[in-house]
Amino acid sequence: MIDIEDIKKRAVIEIDGVVSGDELEVVRLRYLGRKQGEITALLKSLKDMSMEEKKEVGPLIQKLKEDIEEAISFKKKNLSDDPSIIDVTLPGRKTERGHLGIITQTEDEIRRIFNSMNFSVIDGPEMEDEHHNFDALNIPPDHPAREMWDTFWIKTGKEGGKNPSTSSGQERYLLRTHTSPVQVRYMETHKPPFQIISSGKTYRYEATDATHETNFHQVEGLMVGKDISLANFKFVISEFFRQFFSGKTVKVRFRSSYFPFVEPGVEVDVKLDDSRWLEMGGAGMVHPKVLKAVGYDPREWQGFAFGFGVERLTIIKYGIPDIRLFSSGDLKFIKKF
Ligand code: DAH
Repeated sequence: MIDIEDIKKRAVIEIDGVVSGDELEVVRLRYLGRKQGEITALLKSLKDMSMEEKKEVGPLIQKLKEDIEEAISFKKKNLSDDPSIIDVTLPGRKTERGHLGIITQTEDEIRRIFNSMNFSVIDGPEMEDEHHNFDALNIPPDHPAREMWDTFWIKTGKEGGKNPSTSSGQERYLLRTHTSPVQVRYMETHKPPFQIISSGKTYRYEATDATHETNFHQVEGLMVGKDISLANFKFVISEFFRQFFSGKTVKVRFRSSYFPFVEPGVEVDVKLDDSRWLEMGGAGMVHPKVLKAVGYDPREWQGFAFGFGVERLTIIKYGIPDIRLFSSGDLKFIKKF
């Protein structure tokens, strides 16, 4: 008489003990293999049995076969889930490591250089209110200079605080169009003298092309103290460019320009080796009205401020042809840096 229970117990113990797919396959063949399988042999032996015997043993063997199949497929699933089973002889799989994007690398470099000149690095919000982005920078609502900054206004669903200096009398919110509001926020809460920079995202509601993006980065600088002049600015910014474009001879010039929050205002140009003059950004002496608005006495304190495009600095340093590459997600571009 065949001991079905005994075979089953034995099979289950063996299946349970295997530690790899290969071993499991050996066990499977031992029981269910078409040529030498023990269960297969049992099924074959049915044909030599009497009718009664067949009726009695047949279904039991069939059930045994199904039980073993089930135990094997259960084990197979566990094996593939089990992280402790590692074939150490397999060649290693190379995992790709990410790295900081080129804009972040440039921002780090900018911070490092200004840190070396004793500037502190501060932060400001990307969602701004109209007051800090415009009014406190001497750009009232009906000022034509507001057209210099095409603005993404934010629908908040609820009214902001009262702000009598805006056309609606209410505070409105926007995505900051420049990093200059950070100057105001810092001055509101700190007493001079100080020197700070702030780098981060800015937004403009405008058409994109090779030199314009709706989302880009600026670095803002502000130094306030006694007897600060544009000559101090020229030294600081020349030193910055000298380090940032290291290995190149750098010339810096100022061209007279207009921004409502500075007087005088200048455009800063840079000449690298024998290149043509390249426009880098705006700067100037902080306007007395801006100083007054934060409670400073402009006869006691003066300061310079500047705002440069981080993409522009990066484009010039690395010879990048199109600003849209930065956020294209193009891996060929990303991996270059
Ligand atoms: N905020 C200006 C812009 O985005 C750039 C700028 C100009 C910043 C002059 C300054 C400054 O701090 O003094 O166009």
